[in-house]
Amino acid sequence: MAEIVILDGVERLDEICAMEEICFSDPWSRDAFESTLDSGFACMLGALDGDRLVGYALIQCIGGDAELLNIAVSPACRGCGIGRALLEAGVSEAVVRGCEMMFLEVRESNASARALYEKAGFAKLGVRRGYYTHPREDAVMMGRGLEPVG
Ligand SMILES: CC(C)(COP(=O)(O)OP(=O)(O)OC[C@H]1O[C@@H](n2cnc3c(N)ncnc32)[C@H](O)[C@@H]1OP(=O)(O)O)[C@@H](O)C(=O)NCCC(=O)NCCS
Repeated sequence: MAEIVILDGVERLDEICAMEEICFSDPWSRDAFESTLDSGFACMLGALDGDRLVGYALIQCIGGDAELLNIAVSPACRGCGIGRALLEAGVSEAVVRGCEMMFLEVRESNASARALYEKAGFAKLGVRRGYYTHPREDAVMMGRGLEPVG
């Protein structure tokens, strides 16, 4: 099982950008990652198998609300609980940072991610029509309350 760690700033960003290109039809650019990490509100979590990055999740915490901005697991390593572990670590970090709610958006057709979020207690809040591009698709907005850790 992979170890989940908090990455420091742009640590491992080359590997993250390479995995992002493989995992998404509309990948984040390196600039987008850098400016989000520069903002001081974001935290990147990495899943490590030994020294190999096998997944990552990016959260942002502003004024009591956390947002899951990005999450991906290397295709060869999916279905082993790494996505769930990254999401749980993101929730824990948001609680540590004083957040009370977490929100996210997901492509309507992304059944695996939606199942992951539903299992983790996220509920559908609404739909943003035509939110995504490449291909154009609606976003499902989801959210959950964050219970204090321990
Ligand atoms: C979504 C993603 C992060 C899940 O990562 P993962 O490591 O495979 O997920 P896990 O093994 O931790 O699975 C956790 C839960 O997610 C759901 N899930 C994961 N893969 C699934 C699949 N192929 N079909 C249905 N449900 C799935 C299940 O509910 C699963 O719980 P279970 O194993 O008890 O049934 C991964 O598929 C991925 O990287 N997808 C491409 C990037 C992406 O779409 N990110 C989300 C953007 S919003």
